[in-house]
Amino acid sequence: MEQLSVPAGQANDVMTAAEVEAFWRNGFAGPFPLDIPADELAELGNQCERIVVERQSHPLYDRYALRDWHLIDKDLERLFTQDAIVNRVVQLLGPDLLLWRSKIFYKPPGADAIGWHQEWGKFDGEEIGNSTPSLQPPVFGEDIWDLTIWVALDDVTPENGPLQFAAGTNRTKVPWSKVPMTQSAFYEEPFEGLTKEQIVARTRNSELVLDIDTADWLDGFDVDTASLPELTDHLRRRFDQLSAKFTEFEPDPDTVATMEMPRGSFVIFSERTMHGSPANNSDRRRMAVNCRIAKADTLVYPGRLAGDMIDGSNLDISRHESVLVAGEAVETRNVIRR
Ligand SMILES: [Fe+2]
Repeated sequence: MEQLSVPAGQANDVMTAAEVEAFWRNGFAGPFPLDIPADELAELGNQCERIVVERQSHPLYDRYALRDWHLIDKDLERLFTQDAIVNRVVQLLGPDLLLWRSKIFYKPPGADAIGWHQEWGKFDGEEIGNSTPSLQPPVFGEDIWDLTIWVALDDVTPENGPLQFAAGTNRTKVPWSKVPMTQSAFYEEPFEGLTKEQIVARTRNSELVLDIDTADWLDGFDVDTASLPELTDHLRRRFDQLSAKFTEFEPDPDTVATMEMPRGSFVIFSERTMHGSPANNSDRRRMAVNCRIAKADTLVYPGRLAGDMIDGSNLDISRHESVLVAGEAVETRNVIRR
């Protein structure tokens, strides 16, 4: 597609003191507008949809992945590096910032809910049973070192799976437990609308569920004689041999904020804030992308220094780079895109 029309830097792309104060109290801020034409955002949404629907292999990771397409697609990089986003994150995290991760969040009609969850800042893959930290701040203290920016590429309504926050939960670490994967907050039924042949192909290509290597799950299973229900039962049992994160949490309804937001607007939140999204009960797609921006004194993928190139989401991050979006690359051991 054509390049996005990027607005010139705008000095008013900042939050008021009241908005900053509300962020620290609630754990999120926004929605705020991006000055990008709606048709360009819709086309970017279509590109993202093709990545998901066609199960495109990520050039950096050599497998189907919805992470870090901003390192491939210049339009996504430009989207996340808008002044409207960066200036506001500077207000919250300070002058030196790294964009280190992004992800596509595609919710087609009928897609499941994502249950309430929070993430304290290591991004170690605990949601799928792993414990490999992605971020290491100079001190693991009370202060936050990372924020998430969630950008709507479609109009988000109460019906099509909006992002929700439980305001004020950003200072309370809620206990969680490990459960069989199909009971976790993140599990979505991957079989809907697929034929037996499609399920078999996706399983063998590890394209069934993100970040889970299913390539050998049908070894020794008689695919030819199995019915569709027998096949899906077998695969559900395999998922349940893995454990995943489940947080026992019911928000006070008075604290729940539903982010109804137009295409091209964004919210900023701390992952420590309890968040999730209900099912898409509409007949329209809900496409969104997020990115994660950390203080530049944070070490990204600390395991890399010891030669451990597999991250908490089972991706090989050998070729991952962070993008300096403001100030100085303070932690000099990080791999920064030049
Ligand atoms: Fe999340």
